[in-house]
Amino acid sequence: MDTKTTVISEAALQQQLQICDHIHAWWLTQNITPTAYVETYGCQQNEADSEKLRGYLIQCGYGIVKEAEGADVVIMNTCAIREHAEQRVFGNLGALTHTKRRHSRQKIFLCGCMAGETKVSDRIKKSYPHVDGVFSTHHLWQFPEILWKILSGSKRQFYIADEPGSIAEGIPQQRDSSLKSWVSIMYGCNNFCTYCIVPYVRGRERSRKKEDILAECRCLIENGSKEITLLGQNVNSYGKDLALGYDFSDLLAEIAQIPGDFLIRFMTSHPRDAGRKLFDTMASFPKIAKQLHLPFQSGSSRVLKAMNRHYDREKYLELVRYAKSVMPDLVLTSDVIVGFPGETEEEFEETVSLIQEVHYDSLFTFIFSPRTGTPAASMDDPTSKEEKNRRFDRLCNLQNAISEEIHRNYVGKCLRCLIDGTDDGLLTARTEGGRLVRLPGDKSLVGTFQNITITGSTTWSLTGQL
Ligand code: SAH
Ligand code: SF4
Ligand code: F3S
Repeated sequence: MDTKTTVISEAALQQQLQICDHIHAWWLTQNITPTAYVETYGCQQNEADSEKLRGYLIQCGYGIVKEAEGADVVIMNTCAIREHAEQRVFGNLGALTHTKRRHSRQKIFLCGCMAGETKVSDRIKKSYPHVDGVFSTHHLWQFPEILWKILSGSKRQFYIADEPGSIAEGIPQQRDSSLKSWVSIMYGCNNFCTYCIVPYVRGRERSRKKEDILAECRCLIENGSKEITLLGQNVNSYGKDLALGYDFSDLLAEIAQIPGDFLIRFMTSHPRDAGRKLFDTMASFPKIAKQLHLPFQSGSSRVLKAMNRHYDREKYLELVRYAKSVMPDLVLTSDVIVGFPGETEEEFEETVSLIQEVHYDSLFTFIFSPRTGTPAASMDDPTSKEEKNRRFDRLCNLQNAISEEIHRNYVGKCLRCLIDGTDDGLLTARTEGGRLVRLPGDKSLVGTFQNITITGSTTWSLTGQL
């Protein structure tokens, strides 16, 4: 297979922007201000992609609205990570037949990770005739061209070619928040964990040039952004494809030296490529949040091998020990899968004991979901659904107890937090470690860092006072 990254030329992107202007003018001649709705499923990568879709739509003259009813364009930016996520999308897509019937001008598109699966595009071709276009993540940069084809009366469009993936700089981006910003530093994944669909739908790992990333970060900070989250499926392998001897830690250190009052976060770190250099870099720069999302997936080395994770229980624990030794206040979160094919009761107990040993601040627990085309989907899986549910509940209860205890220990401490919004008459804030705090105060404080004394706690959040 060809694994070369396609870098979209400036001229090709300029052409897309010209189509945007053309669409804008086309609506103006009809005296219509069109509207668009983008629904986002899945992870932060999709959130960041939706910001680009909205950027393009605004350039095309669309006003962004908050529901599908009455919108001229509806885009479903989908997630394929688990069966349940896909079922939700198909359900909601079905319901759009009605919104389209009530608003015949409505054009419906499906994009994101599900659009990269042949079984999904086949099903849409056959059973969802009201969907006007499907485009995979590789083709997002061509959205204006796809939209114009549909508006000008062409037949349904399917931009779903299987390719290693591209990098397109210069797509306009309508950011959800001026305070907290996503910055994708790389796309795709090369790891092929045996349960995971991401490498199949998002293509090969490819890094943006550091100059482009730094310029984007500088611009965001100059415009008042207070929190930058660097995104990638495996940020620790940033730069490997560029072969410039410049890695993720080097990038972090350089961003941390941009003048201004802001915090840097990143996700996701893969334990395979995380190491001492990363943790030492985190420890040395105050602007890098002492927060780490380090998915372990299983506490059993046998299961980790079957998952193709390239680390074992010991190596994982050794990483965590080192990270905590250089960052005593580190907030550590993780992902875990229960019921991977063939996981025995003893292997599940190893997951339990790892959680007890590490003491995560919070944990995302998933029941294994077979994804068509991945190796794990055809592995022997004798464990019953009931048993998997039991294991799942056990992990949730264990983690809730740990989170509650950790949160209780915050009470009385004074922490520097970013006030990031309001909710139900209270201010909301995030600690450096990303924990949610609610507190009374004036909404003029939103967007500032403040010292907050923690006065109370629950399993999920903290309360405080300025
Ligand atoms: N790139 C990240 C993970 C992205 S997907 C990493 O490697 O850490 C987010 C989480 O979804 C994964 O960490 C995993 O716990 C879960 N996940 C992925 N595929 C899954 C599947 N088939 N069934 C259940 N959970 C899955
Ligand atoms: Fe999926 Fe593994 Fe890649 Fe994460 S590292 S996206 S779990 S294949
Ligand atoms: Fe889902 Fe795609 Fe993210 S599958 S989790 S939206 S990379």
